[in-house]
Amino acid sequence: SNYWVIVPAAGSGKRMGAEIPKQYLPLNGKPIIAHTLENILSWPGLEGVIVAIAADDCEFSSIAAAQDPRVFTVIGGAERAQSVLAALDYLSARENPATPVLVHDAARPLVALDDIQKLLAAAPMALLAQPASDTIKQSQPGEGGSTVVRQTLPRDQIWLAQTPQKAPLGLLRDTLMRGLENDPLAITDEASALEQAGYHPELVAACRSNFKITHPADLILAEALLRHRAG
Ligand code: CTP
Ligand code: MG
Repeated sequence: SNYWVIVPAAGSGKRMGAEIPKQYLPLNGKPIIAHTLENILSWPGLEGVIVAIAADDCEFSSIAAAQDPRVFTVIGGAERAQSVLAALDYLSARENPATPVLVHDAARPLVALDDIQKLLAAAPMALLAQPASDTIKQSQPGEGGSTVVRQTLPRDQIWLAQTPQKAPLGLLRDTLMRGLENDPLAITDEASALEQAGYHPELVAACRSNFKITHPADLILAEALLRHRAG
């Protein structure tokens, strides 16, 4: 069945440390979010896209993809989950609660269509993720303000969550609202809210190139990967 995509794009990009929010930084000639939206608009079966932008955003409307009739905007919130919830509120006024929704970060322009197809074919609650490649250490406070290893976690059970994350509209809205009431800091993605409600979303192994552009070095890597694909 057809699905909607929600794009949280109301962050300020503190870790990037640029003058403007990172989603508007140029990546091979156009803003990161323009790549992300053009990518999404090419996915088969897409009904529409709701982009959560900041209240003081004055750049979104000048992006070419913003003119597409399938693209809508809402004003986001202080935290990512609140931005997603604003879009879910908007969508629930016009769509059935069973409608599949994919939430995808504006800062992940490089997600591959193959991985989207896998996600669409997976369980109703599912997310793209990457099996951990490094050894994973859990930390604890050490002496004199240092940080020390508490233990090594079994790596074969560790996955790094990406987006899109998929769930039915009504259920995602209810669980996100409840999660934000109970423990807002624990709701760092859609799956974490579903987990709190007792669900076990399916993990769909995705390409490592679907990383979130977070730090300045990520931008350089994204530029190189895009050039590599184009060539
Ligand atoms: N996001 C959002 N609303 C917020 C915070 C984040 O819509 N209040 C969006 C960001 O724009 C981004 C995605 O959620 O597309 C993932 O968040 P993140 O990578 O953390 O982006 P920022 O919050 O902008 O960056 P930072 O945490 O470094 O400030
Ligand atoms: Mg953030």
